[in-house]
Amino acid sequence: MTRTLIVGIATSLALIVLLIVIGEREELRLAAAAQTAQARQIEQGALLYDQHCRSCHGVNGEGLSALGPALHDAHFFTDRLREVGWNGSLHDYVVATIANGRITATRPLYVGDGVVAMPPWSRANGGPLRNDQIEALAAFVLNWEATALGKVVLSPLPTPTPPIANDPAQIAHGRQLFLEAGCPACHGENADGVKGAGPALTGIGAVAGERTPGVSAAEYLRASVLIPAAYVVQGYAQPGGCVAALTDAQLTDLVAYLLTVE
Ligand code: HEC
Ligand code: HEC
Repeated sequence: MTRTLIVGIATSLALIVLLIVIGEREELRLAAAAQTAQARQIEQGALLYDQHCRSCHGVNGEGLSALGPALHDAHFFTDRLREVGWNGSLHDYVVATIANGRITATRPLYVGDGVVAMPPWSRANGGPLRNDQIEALAAFVLNWEATALGKVVLSPLPTPTPPIANDPAQIAHGRQLFLEAGCPACHGENADGVKGAGPALTGIGAVAGERTPGVSAAEYLRASVLIPAAYVVQGYAQPGGCVAALTDAQLTDLVAYLLTVE
């Protein structure tokens, strides 16, 4: 009788322990799945960032002079919400900023020439991105927190935008990219313009730096190719569609060429 009781209790205890172990395993499995999903989301956000955001916020979120503020930055993660008087979470602030853009900049440096500081990206606001893509972008930006606050050291170090060397080989490569990327269709083989399609780019190196206060000629040209809506040349009703799928290094060479076309 006592033995049966002991066996019964032991069996029940064993069952309970087994259930706890299985439960924990399940919890671990779910946590791992959630982690994988988050990693995927951040990866998707990184691709979108590279496509749509780096032209103003920098390849690694370091900011680009007067085009866009740094996001991969301690101040952004610690004091920015207080500065703008936002009561919600940083996640919501980032999502709202991406979805709605910024018609007027909150800081004088980014006022530019009075054109929208940052265009809206959500479909509801006429932008190109779905809500899940905006969430992915937010996950990617927020993922910078640890490195921005110095809790984790990035390795290897972020690669800065390659410099414009201004050597003949770089300019020649830029010229080749100009031809290959389809620019002549609207700007002409020699960048002297195509009537009704696109303006002449000759001499642009000399004037591009004066288009927007605080934006250098090279930055202006980079942005013109990366984000057609950033600046629209006077006399044109809408952005020209100068987009080209180029790597950062290729874009630098293309800009080196544009700076020299006469
Ligand atoms: C045409 C340039 C431009 C592009 C492209 C752009 N931004 Fe911005 N963004 C800005 C400017 C300018 C501001 C800040 C204006 C201000 O001072 O309020 C800003 C602000 C922000 C902020 C808030 C930063 C802060 O300090 O308050 C976030 C987050 C942000 N952008 C994310 C993005 C993401 C993600 C993308 C890509 C989908 C993007 N931006 C594309 C120019 C740009
Ligand atoms: C489908 C036609 C079209 C194609 C292709 C095109 N562009 Fe443009 N581009 C335009 C139009 C139209 C404008 C003027 C409106 C504007 O500012 O967006 C313009 C403006 C520019 C400007 C600004 C000029 C200024 O005076 O400020 C630059 C720089 C530029 N394009 C470079 C390029 C490059 C480089 C390529 C190839 C990667 C390219 N474009 C491909 C139509 C085009």
